[in-house]
Parts: sequence; C-alpha cells; structure tokens
Amino acid sequence: MLGTQDFDRRLFDELIPLPDGTSYNAYIVKGSEKVALIDAVDPVKSGVLMRQLASVKQIDYLVCQHVEQDHSGGIPQVLERYPQAQVLCSPKAKQMLVDHLHVDPEKITVVEDGETISLGDRTFEFIHAPWVHWPETMLTYLQEEKILFTCDFFGSHIASTQIYAHNKGRVYDAAKRYYAEIMMPFRTIITKHLARLENYEIEMIAPSHGQVYDDPSFIIDAYRHWVLDEPRDLVLLPYVSMHGSTQVMVDHLITALVDRGIEVAPFNLTVTDLGKLSEALVEAKAVVFGTPTVLVGPHPSVVSAAYLVAALRPKLKYAAVIGSYGWGGKAPETIKSLTASLKLQWIDPVMVKGSPRKEDLSRIDNLANELAGMMKGD
Ligand code: FEO
Repeated sequence: MLGTQDFDRRLFDELIPLPDGTSYNAYIVKGSEKVALIDAVDPVKSGVLMRQLASVKQIDYLVCQHVEQDHSGGIPQVLERYPQAQVLCSPKAKQMLVDHLHVDPEKITVVEDGETISLGDRTFEFIHAPWVHWPETMLTYLQEEKILFTCDFFGSHIASTQIYAHNKGRVYDAAKRYYAEIMMPFRTIITKHLARLENYEIEMIAPSHGQVYDDPSFIIDAYRHWVLDEPRDLVLLPYVSMHGSTQVMVDHLITALVDRGIEVAPFNLTVTDLGKLSEALVEAKAVVFGTPTVLVGPHPSVVSAAYLVAALRPKLKYAAVIGSYGWGGKAPETIKSLTASLKLQWIDPVMVKGSPRKEDLSRIDNLANELAGMMKGD
C-alpha cells in the first residue's frame, strides 16, 4: 500500500468538514510479468507518491478507478516518469481523463465490465460500478488474493498511520459519515452493487480513502444496514434562532417529542458540523426545520440545510416547520419547495408572531402528538 495521509485537511469539496483528515490511498500490485499502480492520489500529495515510487522501476498499468482528482491528480506525473504505462479505466472515464487532466488518449486503454487483465501470476477483474459516486467508477478485484479495491466505495475520511480498520467504533462512525455525505444519494444503485458483490469471495476491501478492511463483512454489513433498513423513530431538528423565539419553540418540541418516546437530534445550524447532520440523516424518519423569518423567507442557513437534506436523498418520511415571524412571510412554503423532491408527508407548520405564548406552545404539543403518532403508526 502506498498513498498519502492528509492529517491537516479540514474541508473536502470546500464544503464537507474533515475532523479526522483523510487519506488518498494507492496500491502497487506486482505480478510475475507486469506491475500495476491502482489510483494516483490527490495532486497536493502527488510529490509524496512519486517519492514512495522511487524504488519501483516499472509500471505497466495505471488503474484509474475514478477520475475525481483526489484519486487521479497524480496520473500526469506517474505517466511522465513511466512513459510506457497504460492507463486502464472504464469507457466513461476515458474522456474525463482527457478533459480533467489532459491525459494523452493514446495512453488510455478502456476495460469493459468483467474484463480481466493478467499481471502474470496475478489477475485483475474490473467491475464497473457506476454512481459510487460518479458515472465512470469501477472496482478492481484481485482474483488470486481475493482483494477488492473500491476507491471511494466503502471509504472513510480518516488519516492514520494504522493500515487496517481495527478500531471498529471509530471507523464505523467515519464510514457512516462518509456514506451519508457521498453515497447516500445513490442508495438504489448501491443496493444493486452490494447484491452483485455477493458473487465474489472477498477477503479484504482496500478503499482509496481511510483504512483497509481485513474483515470485509464489517463494512459490507454496515452498508446493507444504511442502505436497506427502514428509518427509525428519530427526528432531525435543524434550526436557527436569531432572538430566542424559535429557540423556545425548539426546546419545547424536543421535550414534547421525548415525552412521547421519540428521539430528537437537534442541530443549531450556527455551530453545526454538516457531516454530523448528514450522518443523522441516514437513519432519521422525520425532519422539523426551525427558522425565524428573514425578510419574507427562512433564515439563509436553514435554506442551505433544506437544500442539503434534499440533495442527500435520505429515507425521511415526515416533515414540519416551526418558527417565528415579525409581520408575515412564507418560510414554510419556501422550505417545502426546496425539499419537494423528497415527497415528504407534511404536518401543518407552527409559525408564531413574536415571542411564543402559552397557546403557541400548545400548538407545538399538538404537532408533537401528530408527528409521534405518524412515526409510531408506520
Ligand atoms: Fe475520493 Fe470521488 O473522490
């Protein structure tokens, strides 16, 4: 295993927080006749990869499983040092490599789904796996050792000097967070990929982010649970309060739901790590947005959270809006339209003019009653 640890990186895609850094893994596989490199790290770490390759005299194949630059950025430098190397990739990846990295098309060999390539005494089988999470992605199965290389699939953002995922609690949490942020929108197709992988005997899973799984059932079972299982009685409560009114309503709703046996995960969006919010979405059955009214709509941070919730396509079933306003507005309608693609069942909003009074908090109790009844009645 080669590749680089990025202990200091704190943001991915200029959006996703990385509390544990990340790694860009690459793998050298030496056969009796040919040598292959799988993936080629982020461009900011390509110099490290080139130093790690210092003793490698020959690379015949450079397997590009995914063109996103954190795994392909080093390809031009690798090709410069090993001009005889052929880049192996899926048909869709070829033009992407030309477009994003200006790789010479003559250096690219397309491999079909199920195609095998011999390194001599070792054999690669390529498994096309579109939409985990780009359309061109593929996995690489090393038949003799039964190792499945998966690039982003099954990955986690962890930087560590430990190769194997033995601290299962830490890895489970990081991999779940990664799944929520990157893979959850593709649940349906991931289900198909998981079913297909049942046909393979897998002794090790080697992703290109985070640690290697020498107990592959650990991460495969976790994915099955995240993808397939019904959501549980958990309410996600992303909110903002500017002058305290919405906060009073949020606090009251939390107590009311807990009293009715419903777990609540509140996220004050002014201090929320979006990765935590995404992770909670994996299992949540309902979402209640809490927002003050800014001009005529929701607070911009709530708009952003609603957009993210819709983009990640979680298993949510029910939704509501609570909040406050000074003289009017359409905050609930705006939030509903932002999340329309999820086809949620909405409970009537509770919007309060000014600071909530006793009767307003009774309306919150009613909302809690209705929501708890719907969730438990599933
Ligand atoms: Fe780790 Fe989709 O790149």
